[in-house]
Amino acid sequence: MPGSIGTSEIREAVPLAVRQARPTVWLNPRRVAADDILPTLTLTRADVEAAEARWRRFDPLLAHLFDALGTGRIDSPFRALAAPMARRVAGGQGGAVWVKADHELPVTGCIKARGGVYEVLVYAEALALAQGLLRPGETYARLADPDARRLFGAHTVAVGSTGNLGFSVGVMARALGFRVEVHMSHDAKAWKKQRLREIGAEVVEHAGDYGSAVAAARAAFADRADAHFVDDEDSLDLFLGYATAAFDLRRQLAAAGVAVDRDHPLYVYLPCGVGSAPGGVSFGLTLLFGDAVRCIFVEPVAAPCMLVQLAAGLERPVSVYEVGLDNRTEADGLAVASASMRVARTVGPLIEAVVTVSDADLSAWLRELWTGAGLRLEPSAAAGFAAVRPFLAALPAPPGGDRATHVVWTTGGALLPEAEFQAALRGDGTG
Ligand SMILES: Cc1ncc(COP(=O)(O)O)c(C=O)c1O
Repeated sequence: MPGSIGTSEIREAVPLAVRQARPTVWLNPRRVAADDILPTLTLTRADVEAAEARWRRFDPLLAHLFDALGTGRIDSPFRALAAPMARRVAGGQGGAVWVKADHELPVTGCIKARGGVYEVLVYAEALALAQGLLRPGETYARLADPDARRLFGAHTVAVGSTGNLGFSVGVMARALGFRVEVHMSHDAKAWKKQRLREIGAEVVEHAGDYGSAVAAARAAFADRADAHFVDDEDSLDLFLGYATAAFDLRRQLAAAGVAVDRDHPLYVYLPCGVGSAPGGVSFGLTLLFGDAVRCIFVEPVAAPCMLVQLAAGLERPVSVYEVGLDNRTEADGLAVASASMRVARTVGPLIEAVVTVSDADLSAWLRELWTGAGLRLEPSAAAGFAAVRPFLAALPAPPGGDRATHVVWTTGGALLPEAEFQAALRGDGTG
């Protein structure tokens, strides 16, 4: 790319501590007020509302297909952490600590369902409408009928994944009768590959990392009229599926009597891999709460792809390898070397901070949250907890004091096989 930023300039732009894989708090110097940035973006509140309306159209079908879904709504509990644990998490710096428990999200047990399931529904709806399978006003439960399944069975849904997106896409697509192909790095956890095979997905392994698996799958499906590729790095539908989580959280905050406004700031801690899930959620929350919400992305010290991208600027994609990091972490869902440029461009200006955390910290929090709060998490999902204290300590004054609310988004783990969970508790990533 002639004239574009070189590796030495990128190294200069990225703090030394980050390059040395030391835990760091990076306060975003290019943050822009919500009112200034939102009108400049192509995606709007109407897009997120349309996505929410689509979820609701599918409620009857999802309730029919999955016993775990009473009403068809895929949402997770929202719980306050008990005072002693909240003090441990926030270092006694004031404000309540809540957990948005996507590790318990029904059907898939991880945040990636919000985007992955949603994108499969978008594809299924488009196919069904094109074939005249859905008459106006007809219930979407109709899409479980044999003729709809025959239609879906003639189509493939493909995805490149570190594991959890593939599972979310795979469960939904298989339930509708689609063929499913999941492209994964050879390094991805063996049990995640096995679990995909058990639901009838074809797993294609690639020698390189997650990014090469996505690139290979994207190329393989570029010209396939009978298939849809879910692009974790570049999909609008994924992003919008995640963004609708904001409506769920707003409802739960109101039901719990938690105020969110200028005097009562809301801090949300989100584990970040390629950026799609935390990016979509942050976008949705900012649409609803403006600058009263502040989103903090959390990444492993070995794979801080969003931090590196935002620090280096948005001129061209940058990878953590370019600053000497190796992308090796037990937090497999976050083991991503290059962030989504679409997400970086859309929500980069909205992110309050990126915090990097060590695997040792993730492991310690995983144990403590299990023994002290009964939270069954996978390493990626504990990232938010490891970030609260360092983030608050990096600010000149604790924001909002006792009036602030801290929400840690736990993003996966309830469906971890017991042996894997025990290995994670021991801090030994046999996976
Ligand atoms: C458990 C878990 N948390 C967080 C994430 C991050 O999501 P994203 O890659 O969209 O940033 C992932 C991604 O797979 C994940 O599996």
